[in-house]
Amino acid sequence: MVKVTKAVFPVAGMGTRFLPATKAMPKEMLPIVDKPLIQYAVEEAIAAGITDLIFITGRSKRAIPDHFDKAYELEAELEERGKQKLLDLVRGIIPPHVTCVYIRQAEALGLGHAVLKAKPVVNNEPFAVILADDLIDATTPAMKQMTELYSYYQCSILGVQEVAREETGSYGIVAAQPISEKLSKVDAIVEKPKPEVAPSTLGVVGRYILTPRIFHHLETIPFGAGGELQLTDGIAELLKEQQVLAYAFDGVRYDCGSKIGYLKATVEHALKHPEVADEFRAYLDARCD
Ligand code: G1P
Repeated sequence: MVKVTKAVFPVAGMGTRFLPATKAMPKEMLPIVDKPLIQYAVEEAIAAGITDLIFITGRSKRAIPDHFDKAYELEAELEERGKQKLLDLVRGIIPPHVTCVYIRQAEALGLGHAVLKAKPVVNNEPFAVILADDLIDATTPAMKQMTELYSYYQCSILGVQEVAREETGSYGIVAAQPISEKLSKVDAIVEKPKPEVAPSTLGVVGRYILTPRIFHHLETIPFGAGGELQLTDGIAELLKEQQVLAYAFDGVRYDCGSKIGYLKATVEHALKHPEVADEFRAYLDARCD
C-alpha cells in the first residue's frame, strides 16, 4: 500500500494583505503567539507521518529556510547560558528523520504553478499540499485525518468545509455526492465562483492529498482565473479520470491570510497557551466587564 510521505508547502505568495509587516518578512513567518504559521503547518505534516517537506519559495523568503536550519550561534549561546528548555525547543523544530527541500518559484504564476514546481522531487508518488495560511486547530491534526483516509481509499482527497454563500468567491468550490457524514465524492470543482453560480457552499481549504497524475494536468491546462495556473483547474481535469474525494475534517480552521482570521487564531491560541492563558483570560474578562 502506498503511503503519503511528501508534503508541498507553497510559500512564494507576496502577503500583500499584511503589509507593511510582510514587506521584508514572509507572511508564513507571522507568529500565532510564539510560533510562525509555517511551523504549525510543518508540525501538522510531521504528525501525519510525512518525512519530506518541499517548500516552494520565492524572493524575500530566506527566513523560512533559516527557520528550519540549524542555528549554530543561537544554540551555542543558549547552551552557554544553560537554557536547556529553549535549546531543546530550537533543536526539535525538525526531527532528524525529516528532510527539507527548497525549490524557487521565480514568478508567482499561481498555486497550480507552485505545485507543479514540486514535480521533480515528488516524482510518481501521492503527496500532500498544505497552505500555511489555513491554520487548523484539531485534536487529530487535519492532515493526519486525511492520510489515514488515503491509506484506505488511495485516491486524491480535498479538505473542505462549509463556507458562507457570500464567500464562495474566495474558495475552490466543489459539487459532491455524500458517501458518509464527512466524506463525499467530487463531481465538479470550480475556482472562486460568484455566489449566484456556485455549485454548492462546500469550499476547499488549504489541505490536499493528490495523486501524481495531477502534474500531467497542470502541465496541459491553460492559465485560468486571475491569469494564474490554478490547482483547482488541474483537479477539475483529474476528476474526469480518477476518483477525488472531499473530506470535511474535524477541527477549527482559521483563515490566517486575512487580518480577522489571524486575530481570531491568535486569541484562541493564546487562551490555550500554557505560559499566558490564565493571565490573558483574566485580561479579556476584565475588559469585557
Ligand atoms: C487557494 C485556492 C482555493 C482554495 C484556497 C483555500 O486560494 O486557489 O481554491 O479554496 O486557497 O485557502 P487563495 O486563498 O490562495 O486565493
